[in-house]
Amino acid sequence: MQVNRWPMALVLAAAFASAHASESDAAFNPAPSSFTPGMDFAAHRRADILVRQMTLDEKLQLIHSKYQMSDVPGGGAGFIQGVPRLGIPDLNMVDSATGSGSTSQPSTTFPATIGLAASWDRHLSYDFGARIASQLRAQGFGMGLGGGTNLAREPRGGRLFEYLGEDPVLAGEMLAARTVGTQNQKVIATIKHYVGNEQETGRMGGNSQIDERTLRELYLLPFEIAARTARPGSVMCSYNRVNGTYSCENPHVLTDVLKHDWGFEGQVQSDWGAAHSTAASINAGLDEEEDVGPTVYLTPDAVKQALANHQISQARLDDMVRRKLYVMIRTGVLDDPPKPAPIDFAAGRAFAQSAEEQSMVLLKNDNAQLPLTAAALQRIAVIGGHADAAVLTGGGSGNTRDPVSGNFAGCGGLTFGSATGCSWWTNPWLKLDVPIVKAIQALAPATQVSFAGNSDQTQPFRAYTQQEIDRAVALARQSDVAIVVVTQSSGEDFGELTSLALANPSNQDQLVEAVAQANPHTIVIVESGNPVLMPWKDSVSAIIEAWFPGEGGGQAIANVLFGKVNPSGKLPVTFPAHDQDTPTWGTDGTLPKDPVYAEKLNMGYRWYDAKNIAPLFEFGHGLSYTHFSYSDLDIRPGPDHSMTASFTVKNDGKVAGAEVPQVYLGVNYSGEPPKRLVGWQKVYLNPGEARHVRVSIPARFQSVWDTASNGWKFVPGSAVYVGASSRDIRLQSR
Ligand code: BGC
Repeated sequence: MQVNRWPMALVLAAAFASAHASESDAAFNPAPSSFTPGMDFAAHRRADILVRQMTLDEKLQLIHSKYQMSDVPGGGAGFIQGVPRLGIPDLNMVDSATGSGSTSQPSTTFPATIGLAASWDRHLSYDFGARIASQLRAQGFGMGLGGGTNLAREPRGGRLFEYLGEDPVLAGEMLAARTVGTQNQKVIATIKHYVGNEQETGRMGGNSQIDERTLRELYLLPFEIAARTARPGSVMCSYNRVNGTYSCENPHVLTDVLKHDWGFEGQVQSDWGAAHSTAASINAGLDEEEDVGPTVYLTPDAVKQALANHQISQARLDDMVRRKLYVMIRTGVLDDPPKPAPIDFAAGRAFAQSAEEQSMVLLKNDNAQLPLTAAALQRIAVIGGHADAAVLTGGGSGNTRDPVSGNFAGCGGLTFGSATGCSWWTNPWLKLDVPIVKAIQALAPATQVSFAGNSDQTQPFRAYTQQEIDRAVALARQSDVAIVVVTQSSGEDFGELTSLALANPSNQDQLVEAVAQANPHTIVIVESGNPVLMPWKDSVSAIIEAWFPGEGGGQAIANVLFGKVNPSGKLPVTFPAHDQDTPTWGTDGTLPKDPVYAEKLNMGYRWYDAKNIAPLFEFGHGLSYTHFSYSDLDIRPGPDHSMTASFTVKNDGKVAGAEVPQVYLGVNYSGEPPKRLVGWQKVYLNPGEARHVRVSIPARFQSVWDTASNGWKFVPGSAVYVGASSRDIRLQSR
């Protein structure tokens, strides 16, 4: 049976009215949805009329972008020339994962999106999209390429920091919220990389072999949720092949699934250099090629030739152009193109800090080590991670190119994989005017705050010398607490991490162990885009995962350390105890360039549950400075096989805080993992406050992909689990 029901809450932009927006953020409160059926109809009609008025050359201009970054000052990753006689403006597009990426224009550096996913906060994701889009518009960009959502199948994945974790519903709903936030600012949102692009190994054309059920239930699902509920203007097809055929000329994923099954009305654009043919791509569903040279396929000459040879039809070419125009009209970019305007960088910084504060995950906090009380501390040691100067960001197009606060003075950034050297792409250190040490000192003015570590900015990744470790240990021994910052770099085009062990600098584990031996109050802050192995977990008293924290990171980390902010993040990805425990490790960790998704549905927490492997920290885990109790689970059937889980969450601690109650289902069907996430809420509660929480579960989330009928099949009678994490289950239906 076909079941196609989606949570309506997501469809309505109004559902994202921001609870956290300050007065000055009023502009980010969403306007009522601009996607009303009537307006849509009008946009289609207008696009049709424009297409009829265009010459062939004008049409060909709209389906092929020029690579702009080096040609035009302030340019972005791609440029589509407009048609002024018909009122069609130029369209300039830019990377936007963590701020404006592929441009020399200054931009705020926001935290990495893996951290955004860790907030589990749809409102924040909406605001994140809106905030970045407002900067894009002010820089003259009408399209943002920041909607990365490949799933964290490979925990060592080089681009994991750009994505939204390992669960398709979490990733899809967070992406949908970001997309609505972006497009409500009149910036076209791209979601990417469609599809099966879960690793960098075999980056240009590796063949991801994924069976249809696994594709539909896992890897396509975040795209489906975002495409159906938030209607992004563009879907970017990826570099890899899917079951033998390049994504950008794969008729199954582009036409059968995206355009037919999901009714996607926007355009498909290629990743930069991901097109491999003219007619085959166009006929498979590619609508626009992004030219990065030297070999290009949708050039005016090539497309004219394909028309003349009857390899493609005029109707299909018109469809490509119509889609582009429809998206420009519907998002407002056609009638109100972006114009250069001043950017409020102070507001950007404040938002970046607040986003980071909501993204950090308190992994461990023995004996209530945190929050720190300044008055009780005479000496604080801060050690390692360049905490006196900078934070880490991710490398590649997901980085911001010219952050306001400036890159680290020296280079020598990412050195593994193919690219090395000193440039925006390879240098992920972000110099802060309020680094961690300075922010801590400001919150503890009477305390002596000292730093020990590698202060050499010309070699930011070099291993700690024995002398540096000895100094750190001596400092830790004479301090009341020792805060060690460890970092793990990763980035696009650098392959995968070889292991989840901290590697760069190579001897960070020894540093932590040595400090923990010297001081029983050792706190570790992790800056990473991937899960990290922690052989020292039991020797330290507290651990915070801060991801790549962005330019407000120094202050945000200090605020969590001192309880100005109560942490509320939850892991969007499992932290395994050993490399060997991960589903993709195989015998020796070597990744094939043509991956076979042999674990099928058992990916992420589903793998650890199915195989009964205890992770270091499980999916959904995250502590708070308060605690929450759960009670009164009630399950009610709704219309069309939907159901509602309702329960009560109470803050029974002494400080205000936010909890993320997660609803999982055990779908009783062959091949299904023990549980899958089907919904959650993030609830903010004062001490003693209780809230009745309702999570509605559409029929689709209770269904499996039935390969025999090639459709969704509803499975009745799933067990319902409500928990504070995927393994800390507090309530269950039976
Ligand atoms: C990346 C895309 C990015 C594009 C444009 C490619 O290398 O894979 O994510 O949007 O470059 O910069």
